[in-house]
Amino acid sequence: MTNHGALREIIEGLLQAEKMISPKYFYDERGSQLFEKITQLPEYYLTKTELDIMHANVGEFAELVGPQASLIEFGSGSSRKTRVLLKNLINQAVYVPVDISEQHLLESARRLRSEFPDLEILPVVADFTRPFELPSPTVMPLRNIVYFPGSTIGNFTHDAAIELLKVMHHGAGMDGAMLIGVDLQKDPNIIERAYNDSAGVTAEFNLNVLRHLNREYDFDFDLDAFTHDARYNPEAGRIEMRLISSRDQIVNVGPEIISITAGEGVLTEYSHKYTLDDFTAMAELAGFKVAKVWTDADDLFSIQYCVRI
Ligand code: SAH
Ligand code: AVI
Repeated sequence: MTNHGALREIIEGLLQAEKMISPKYFYDERGSQLFEKITQLPEYYLTKTELDIMHANVGEFAELVGPQASLIEFGSGSSRKTRVLLKNLINQAVYVPVDISEQHLLESARRLRSEFPDLEILPVVADFTRPFELPSPTVMPLRNIVYFPGSTIGNFTHDAAIELLKVMHHGAGMDGAMLIGVDLQKDPNIIERAYNDSAGVTAEFNLNVLRHLNREYDFDFDLDAFTHDARYNPEAGRIEMRLISSRDQIVNVGPEIISITAGEGVLTEYSHKYTLDDFTAMAELAGFKVAKVWTDADDLFSIQYCVRI
């Protein structure tokens, strides 16, 4: 997508009855670094729990994936969890990390190359919600495994999540599979704490979306005039993150004028939490059968291995 297309998309979101900015705009270099900090926070159970599940079951993952596979990761970030797989997969053909955050992706790929000098690593800078090309590896893989950790799927609405799962279904191909991290329904207090950390890193991450839009697209958001808000919506089963305007204000971008009233929120992210049945139903609508599920002892998080129906 051209920057012009992205700018139109952002303006359209800000002109809706409920103003919104897509969470993909969190991730410039600083946004990616702030997300990494979030993953280290005591309240953010998602990353540590998913890593624990991976460490406990990586032998089984490697067996299911089989030899000479291509691992295609959507939203790879720092590829921290992927390292657990890369160390255990058998005679792996290629690793294709796909991410929108260019500098962060290229730097992560550079570090991975020095850690895994024998592995072909082909990073793709792309918005995976738009059509993009997958690169051709030097050695033909036996199958494609789409890897989508982190519960990034939860950042999409139900319909958008199914569309994205269909893209992954296509990427996996006839004999391929998907390995996906899915955050689970639990005590709402645990969930709310994860998005309202005491160190204020999530608040910084949320505000960073405005910093990114100011720098990259020439908006003039006043960052001091917004506060972080993250609350659990029990009916929708999701965290809703907003930036609340502390006063009446006008935001300009080119000829566009966006008026925001005191107390009004700009929606920046949903983070859906699922039951195992919710996710099975969604996966089926995209043509996947959940073949195997791993969870932690407290059922906070799940990793799911999905194959074609
Ligand atoms: N997989 C990592 C990172 C998750 S954070 C983990 O599990 O910890 C979400 C990642 O997805 C970020 O690196 C972000 O840059 C990327 N991302 C978000 N929306 C995207 C999009 N539309 N296209 C490509 N990458 C995207
Ligand atoms: C990337 N994604 C799954 C994170 C989440 O938990 O929804 C992003 C995030 N937002 C706030 N904290 C972390």
